Amino acid sequence: MNLLLKNIKQLVTLNSNSMPFKSGKEMCDLSVIENATVLIENGIFKWIGRNAEFTQTVNEDIDIIDASDLVGLPGFVDSHTHLLFAGTREDEFAMRVEGKTYQEIAQAGGGILNTVQTTRTATKKELKKLARQHLDTILTEGTTTIEIKSGYGLDEKDEIKMLEAINELTDECLMNIIPTFLGAHAVPPEFKNNANDYVDLICTRMLPYIAQRKLAKFCDAFCEQGYFSVEQCRKIFETAKSHGMSIKIHADQLTQIGASKLAAEIGALSADHLEQINDGGIAALKESGTIATVLPGVSFFLHCAYPPARKIIDAGIPLAIASNFNPGSCMSYSMPLMMTIACTQMSMTPEEAITASTLNGAAALGLSEIIGSIEVGKQADIVLYDVPSYRYLAYHFGTNHVAKVIKRGTYLDF
Ligand code: NIG
Repeated sequence: MNLLLKNIKQLVTLNSNSMPFKSGKEMCDLSVIENATVLIENGIFKWIGRNAEFTQTVNEDIDIIDASDLVGLPGFVDSHTHLLFAGTREDEFAMRVEGKTYQEIAQAGGGILNTVQTTRTATKKELKKLARQHLDTILTEGTTTIEIKSGYGLDEKDEIKMLEAINELTDECLMNIIPTFLGAHAVPPEFKNNANDYVDLICTRMLPYIAQRKLAKFCDAFCEQGYFSVEQCRKIFETAKSHGMSIKIHADQLTQIGASKLAAEIGALSADHLEQINDGGIAALKESGTIATVLPGVSFFLHCAYPPARKIIDAGIPLAIASNFNPGSCMSYSMPLMMTIACTQMSMTPEEAITASTLNGAAALGLSEIIGSIEVGKQADIVLYDVPSYRYLAYHFGTNHVAKVIKRGTYLDF
C-alpha cells in the first residue's frame, strides 16, 4: 500500500547522515521538519521534506492522511525485553515495597527462578498467546521493533521452546521481533552447586543447536555475583561468536565484577543495565564502541541506583534506552514512560531520550541501516502523536498519546 502523510505539524526525522547511531552532543540533534510531507511506497520511505517542496503528482489509488494536528516520530525500538514468560510476580513486588531487596527475594527461591517454574510448565502455544497480548498493546503505544530474550527455560527443551515461540511470533506479527538466547540468565535448580556444568551444557549443546537452526541473532548472559562470573560469561560468548552470533550482556546491574570491561574485550554490540558501572567500565566501552543500553524502569521499579547516563553520554558513548519489560524488575513496556524516567531521574534531555529510544535502540540491535529514523530508503515505521510538540511526550507521562501507527507502510488507526 502506498501512503502520503501531509501537513505533519512536526516531524522528528532523526536524520543520521548514514551514521549507525548518534553520540555526545549529536544526541540532541533530532533533525525536525515543521509542516512536513512523507511519501511511503511499498513499505519504504520514498520522499521526506517540507510540504511546500513536495511537487510530485501521486497516483489516484494512494491513501492520503492529513496529519495537520499530529507530531511524527520514528517507531520506538525496544532493544532489551524478557517479554515471553508465564506467571506474574506481584507478591514479590509487595515484598519489595515492605523492604526486601530483589537479591533477597531471589536467594529465597523467588526472582528469575520463580518465572522459570511457570514458564517451563506452559506450552509454546500458551506462551505465544500471552506474548501476543503484550505485543498487540505495545504496538499501539508506538513501539514498532522489539527484542525478546529466552532465559526462563534454562534447560535444552524449554530454552528451545522459548526461542521457537519468539521466532514464530516474528513471522506472525507486524512488528519486527529480534530473538536473543539468554540461557545464562540464572543457574537452574538442577545445577545449583554446579554452574560450570551448566555453562558446559550451554556451550556444547545449546549454542551449536541454536546457531545451526538460526533461532537467535544474539547471545546474552547475566554477568553478576550469584549468577555467572566473568570467566563463565567469557566462555559462553567466545563459543557464541565462534558460531557467528553477536553478543549482548547484562552488565554491572547489582554489583561491580568487571562485566562492562568484559563487554568491551569481547566486542559486545551492547552492554545493558550499567547501574553500577565505574570509570574503568566507561573508559572500556568508549574504547570498544559498545553501545550502552540503560533501562530506567528497573531502577524506578526496584527503587535502586540509576545508571550514570549523563557521564556515559558526556564520555561520547552511544546510549540507548530500553524497557527491559519482565515480570520481576520492570513490569512495563512503555517507552514514553522510560523516557520520562530518563529525563527526571537521569538528567537526560527529552531530545537525548528520543534518540536513545529510536536510532540508538536500532543500533543496539544492529538494525540502524533499516530502522530507527525517518530517512529515504528506510523501512516506513512512523508513529503519529496527538501532542503539541515532541517534547510533550516525556512531559505528559502515564497516558498513551498515539494517534496512528504506520508499520512497514501498513497503517493502523486508534
Ligand atoms: O534484566 N537481570 C536479569 N534479568 C532481568 C530480570 C528478570 C526477572 O527478574 O525475571 C533484568 O532485570
